[in-house]
Amino acid sequence: MTTAKAEPITHLDDDRFTVTEWRFAPGAETGWHVHGHDYVVVPLTDGTLGLDLPGGEQVKAALKQGLPYSRRVGVNHNVTNIGDAPLAFLEIEATHHVLSDRRHEVLVRFMAAWNARDVDALMDCMAADCAFHASSGAEGTGARHSGRDAVRAAYAALFDGFPQAAWTEDRHHVAGDTGLSEWRFIGTDRAGGRVDVQGCDIFRFDGELIALKDSYRKARLTG
Ligand code: NI
Repeated sequence: MTTAKAEPITHLDDDRFTVTEWRFAPGAETGWHVHGHDYVVVPLTDGTLGLDLPGGEQVKAALKQGLPYSRRVGVNHNVTNIGDAPLAFLEIEATHHVLSDRRHEVLVRFMAAWNARDVDALMDCMAADCAFHASSGAEGTGARHSGRDAVRAAYAALFDGFPQAAWTEDRHHVAGDTGLSEWRFIGTDRAGGRVDVQGCDIFRFDGELIALKDSYRKARLTG
């Protein structure tokens, strides 16, 4: 015997939220699924859900129209309308952390590309419209390189200036549209001078890619 399926209707799907209306005829079920995000359920009707849980456990949940509840990512269940009347709810999934996770992955990949001295891989992490503000230069912002060609040339020049370079002790953070990478740079320049300095990059994102790399590093005082 086949069981009727609940009907999903996607009302909104952007980079922060997915909102799905689930409509259940009496006896209809979602089928087994694992929730990939934290979510809120807003009942559009009263009703009673039967929840099949891993291990064969079965529980009932009463829905009250307009009374929301939240659940954490990872919930694994099959949901059935065990009432006599049609039932519906909105499921609001918080997907913004997915973007934040992807941005974090880009920062890790970007750092790996520096250590691999791979300019193509670096540019794969940069947005179509991008800029690089170096840690030093004539202006208070550091030398500014705007546009993909200028950024690529500046990255290539950095590799050229440091035949040996390693970015170590790296840590990456994402907060909203801003990223932060901490690092310790150890390199040898063309003249044989050794640099060992802590620094960081503050990033602005466009989507999941880097729109601005803004570099800072400690200045060693000598003499
Ligand atoms: Ni579910």
